[in-house]
Amino acid sequence: MSKTLLINARIATMADPSSLGLLNNAGLLVDGDTIAWIGPMADGPDNADTQIINCGGRLITPGLIDCHTHLVYGGDRADEFEQRLEGMTYAEISRRGGGIRSTVTATREASEAELLNQSRPRIEQLLNEGVTTVEIKSGYGLDCENEIKMLRVARQVETEYSVRVMKTFLGAHALPEEYIDRADDYISLVCDQMLPQAHAEGLVDAVDVFIESIAFDLPQAQRVFETANALGLPIKAHVEQLSDMGGALLASEFDALSVDHIEYLSAEDVCGLADKNTVAVLLPGAFYVLRETQLPPIKALREQAVPIAIASDANPGSSPLNSILMTMNMACTLFSLTPVEALRGVTINAARALGLESSHGSLEPGKQADIVIWDLNKPSLLAYQIGINPCSGVMQAGQWRKPFKEGAV
Ligand code: NIG
Ligand code: FE
Repeated sequence: MSKTLLINARIATMADPSSLGLLNNAGLLVDGDTIAWIGPMADGPDNADTQIINCGGRLITPGLIDCHTHLVYGGDRADEFEQRLEGMTYAEISRRGGGIRSTVTATREASEAELLNQSRPRIEQLLNEGVTTVEIKSGYGLDCENEIKMLRVARQVETEYSVRVMKTFLGAHALPEEYIDRADDYISLVCDQMLPQAHAEGLVDAVDVFIESIAFDLPQAQRVFETANALGLPIKAHVEQLSDMGGALLASEFDALSVDHIEYLSAEDVCGLADKNTVAVLLPGAFYVLRETQLPPIKALREQAVPIAIASDANPGSSPLNSILMTMNMACTLFSLTPVEALRGVTINAARALGLESSHGSLEPGKQADIVIWDLNKPSLLAYQIGINPCSGVMQAGQWRKPFKEGAV
């Protein structure tokens, strides 16, 4: 029997342009890997040949999407955590050769199997919280062999855990030590060898660049974006995280899927994003960990109707955060997002940030059956509670990853 009918649920469809698209006392029919029907129970489909599951009034949402992570990496950076507590800044640590570069050393030393093992608790935590799609970036290899190694591990995560993994090439994340004072030469390596080789292995869904004083400048980023364009790959960018470099506008000129971080993005530049369908991805974990005080331009983003997504940014330096639920809470508490915006930020808008909105991110007939059943009856509880995981059933592409057990709420 390949059909499953979920009945007696509160369904946040996320199919409405500004709300949760909430349906009370509703049902949802899954046929194979696809949503076949969704609507009020009174209009429910014929039950023949269908397994019926009573959700007992529980909340159903689309599978959650973490659209920005660096969760494959070697080692840890707990020492830098201590240095920052003593007053050193993230940028200072980076300029002294620590930061991303120290993770590059640990990642280069690790085998594929070791990287996969170190990544397991991180991905498993996200999956336990109802994540069905996760983006994973390279960016700690910074040479052909090691960037490709990281992306292969991301692909192994996908195969082994049956989760959708979107793989992003971030070769232009930092300047590796062997290229000090030769950033343009490194960008040539990225454009002429690293990216084409990773792409030829089928390992690249999108291309990202870190545009910042401690990373790459606009002309260097432009060369990477032009290469991505020529290969037919969409782009994303880490921009205006520590300063306003004008990276968001450059990225949006290349029709970026998303611009990420954006604490230092000016309200004027938000207007430039608005025409382009580029998603603003907010990363409250990095804001929190770096004890940033500059808030992203939320008001301007709302006024210009720029879609807002949120993500964990799971990484060993600026955001050792491996919880999508905590990310939602942080986005509300630190950035004053509403719980509705937070849920849109990890579903439909996160799907947009990955170019997946036609098949993922909302519960609509024809979309992939990625579904979470929560032991909750109110959507705002998802962002409100801290340290509780109410996820009680997860279906990925029509298959139960975490089977739901019927019982009253
Ligand atoms: O998204 N900003 C650049 N990249 C990561 C941090 C990487 C690291 O510190 O290891 C970020 O914050
Ligand atoms: Fe990041």
